[in-house]
Amino acid sequence: MYKTENGAILEPGEWEHQSQIEELRRRNEEVLHRTGMPPLAYVHTFGCQQNVSDSEKIKGLLRLMGYAFTDDTAQADFILFNTCAVRENAESRVFGNVGELKKLKRENPQLIIALCGCMMQQERIVQKIKKSYPYVDIVFGTQAIQTLPGLMLQVLDTHRRVYDTRMHAGQIVENLPVWRQGGVKAWVPIMYGCDNFCTYCIVPYVRGREVSRQPQAILQEIQGLVEQGYREITLLGQNVNSYGKGLTPAIDFPGLLQLIDELPGDFWVRFMTSHPKDCTPRLIDTIANSKKLCRHLHLPVQCGSNRVLRDMNRRYTREEYLSLVGYARKAMPDLALTSDIIVGFPGESYEEFLETLDLIKQVQYDSLYTFIYSPRPSTKAAQMPDPVDAKEKSRWFRELLELQDAIGYERYRAFEGTTQTVLLDGESAAKPGILTGRTQQNLLVEVPAPAQLVGSFVPVKLQKAVKWALQGVLAQEKEG
Ligand code: 5AD
Ligand code: SF4
Repeated sequence: MYKTENGAILEPGEWEHQSQIEELRRRNEEVLHRTGMPPLAYVHTFGCQQNVSDSEKIKGLLRLMGYAFTDDTAQADFILFNTCAVRENAESRVFGNVGELKKLKRENPQLIIALCGCMMQQERIVQKIKKSYPYVDIVFGTQAIQTLPGLMLQVLDTHRRVYDTRMHAGQIVENLPVWRQGGVKAWVPIMYGCDNFCTYCIVPYVRGREVSRQPQAILQEIQGLVEQGYREITLLGQNVNSYGKGLTPAIDFPGLLQLIDELPGDFWVRFMTSHPKDCTPRLIDTIANSKKLCRHLHLPVQCGSNRVLRDMNRRYTREEYLSLVGYARKAMPDLALTSDIIVGFPGESYEEFLETLDLIKQVQYDSLYTFIYSPRPSTKAAQMPDPVDAKEKSRWFRELLELQDAIGYERYRAFEGTTQTVLLDGESAAKPGILTGRTQQNLLVEVPAPAQLVGSFVPVKLQKAVKWALQGVLAQEKEG
């Protein structure tokens, strides 16, 4: 069995790509003996937590192949960008970054350059890379991570560019190695893909249909992480609320949460993202009755106008959303709510945008992820008339930020003077002697404390809210 520094990974014979990994490892060990240095890999991740989690698997594979990691592209023997397609500016940044690699490849023809992730699942992008970026060696898609060792061997042996953007419907590859950083917080995917087809969103096209992991595999992974000392597990999926579709025996998301809550050990659980149309009172009751689930719900509303919600194909109304929020607030008065908002969906009027502001005032979110609508080729919304110009949308966007700034600050201030359990997760980069941490509500806390407390749950007396943090001191015990 192979082990990486952070966990047990591949059982011999369990996994078809094992021999390819062994071959690459043998070659890389030769480099190590010859030069005294292992070959270096540079991995950069764009986009969401699902991509971060995929990159952890890619890094796991690279470690087994004998690579060490570098933050400097100029030092690297292998460079990989894991890309995001959700908005146009994410795509432009990737192309900008890839453009900069041309010089490196000229200086070092042995360098291997790979691109993967959501952008690679679009034919027009793959064509553009084939035509305009001839120094890119490997392109693989969101469902082909496990093929990386084989693709690398092909490039090394044939010196030809290789592509694998196949979609493998309904298939999940378990037992991939995972290379996690940090040691306090871990991401655990529970399902992949999305069946919702919100009209603005490219995700269902690039990540395929929903498929859920077996509960035993998830529970085993979490148990292993907790035994290694991880203190916070975030369950990932495009729509975690539809977890379990197609699994036998039947299980749903609240059922999975209950099983996780019963696992032994001292740890917190978060999850994202919850689609409001599938968020049930049963899910809220499950959080309220649990010991380990954080009092935090990320529940993207996207906008506050029923007309726009319908055109977005969100399948809930403003009223249904607000009633769900009311139920959740009643069940858990200390619940933190966060959301995603899109400004300037095609055809949105200023009056409709004001309905979004009004909803935000009613809900009082702790924080928001805010986006200006970006048309994505092949989505329905990209065909809709979009008369409002970019300048006007930017003005609305600033209005939204200003409102949320004020609301968010008040939410932080409401915690002044209280004592909360905080999970300390690291040392402040800017302030020596200060540790950072998070409350269950995911509020950022700064507290003077010794570094060996990183990874501990501690009571903190929160004294003062400053912009986007609460400053406090270690307390004896939590009040109330
Ligand atoms: N334009 C702007 N924002 C988008 N999102 C998804 N697609 C688009 C788009 N085309 C946002 C949504 C989603 C978040 C992950 O990204 O708010 O919840
Ligand atoms: Fe995109 Fe909607 Fe699926 Fe979220 S639920 S990934 S916004 S299609």
